[in-house]
Amino acid sequence: MPTAEQLQLLVSNVVEPLTQRSLGELRMVRDTFINGNDARVRLELPTPAWPNPKGLEELVRQRIRFAAPDLDVRIEVHSTVRGKDTGGRIGLNVHNVIAVGSGKGGVGKSTVAAAIACGLHSFGCRVGLMDADVYGPSIPHMMHAEGRPAASEVTDSEGNRMMRMEPIDAGGVKLMSMGFFIDQGQSVVWRGPMLHKALTQFLKDTDWGELDYLIIDLPPGTGDVALTLAQQVGLAGAVVVCTPQQVALLDAIKAVDMYQKVSVPILGFIENMTGEIFGRGGVQKVAAEMKIPFLGEIPLKACIREYADRGQLMQMLQEDNPARDDLRAVCQNVAVQIFRELIRSPAGPVLEIL
Ligand SMILES: Nc1ncnc2c1ncn2[C@@H]1O[C@H](COP(=O)(O)OP(=O)(O)OP(=O)(O)O)[C@@H](O)[C@H]1O
Ligand SMILES: [Mg+2]
Repeated sequence: MPTAEQLQLLVSNVVEPLTQRSLGELRMVRDTFINGNDARVRLELPTPAWPNPKGLEELVRQRIRFAAPDLDVRIEVHSTVRGKDTGGRIGLNVHNVIAVGSGKGGVGKSTVAAAIACGLHSFGCRVGLMDADVYGPSIPHMMHAEGRPAASEVTDSEGNRMMRMEPIDAGGVKLMSMGFFIDQGQSVVWRGPMLHKALTQFLKDTDWGELDYLIIDLPPGTGDVALTLAQQVGLAGAVVVCTPQQVALLDAIKAVDMYQKVSVPILGFIENMTGEIFGRGGVQKVAAEMKIPFLGEIPLKACIREYADRGQLMQMLQEDNPARDDLRAVCQNVAVQIFRELIRSPAGPVLEIL
């Protein structure tokens, strides 16, 4: 029989297939116990959205069986979300802040941002979704959420008075959007500095609580908003949504350039609206050429538009429908990519404050 140390070493040396690194190096072995013939191994995944946990469990089981065939092993798989915790510098207890953007309007950013939020939530993560499109907020509608966030004034430990806003809960996902503050049909007319201030407030003054992921739906275009966020919070990374058409791709390339300029890691491209009309595979090809990860494709499906129009994005991730598997796979790829980014540069990017 192996000793406890030998068992620990055995499990730590198993290579995790997605990252090709050992479980020990990835800190995915929480602990191992051994008592006579009985052994217990606890694995710790870096997110509940980790793909194929059963496969990993099986890999560990086989390795142990090969080395110690008589050992009776019980394997438990747990998960705790890890992140660079960059939000801490503005008082946020959010492990990973993710921006969802593109260069071009109408490619499905808001739909994809909300689907990622709902998807990660359905895997068991604690998720917030912030609508950074103050001119055309669409998140409240897609998530069938209404109401006005309760606001109160609080005094912090240093005696400063500040606003606290309660996010609106939509089936367990915490939302904040300008849409909750303007009445239907009203429009917002703001200039740059005010926009900057509104976004900062949304981020800082919202009582998000502890979150694993805060997803931010960016407005179309490449400019101000992403910059503000990069400066304020330090993003875990940006997801770039594009459609297979060439023109949308060119805009995505510009978006990548902009993120790189402000040192925001690119988590990857998502091809949205894949199918007969716009084609397929163009985004993956460009991603490969640019050496940017490809996070998956989401088909052009009437059901996606219908779920979004009815404000049922949460249901879209829960009910059986032709888009659900693709959407879940995209969420998993995003979570994995964040972890890859974390092990690549654990300290977080150094951001230029312009
Ligand atoms: N994969 C898809 N299949 C079918 N319809 C989709 C898909 N993705 C998005 N849509 C629909 O396309 C429209 C635009 O989507 P959405 O509002 O998410 O785009 P956007 O990029 O956020 O737009 P904007 O630039 O105005 O913020 C919506 O009606 C949405 O339901
Ligand atoms: Mg939008």
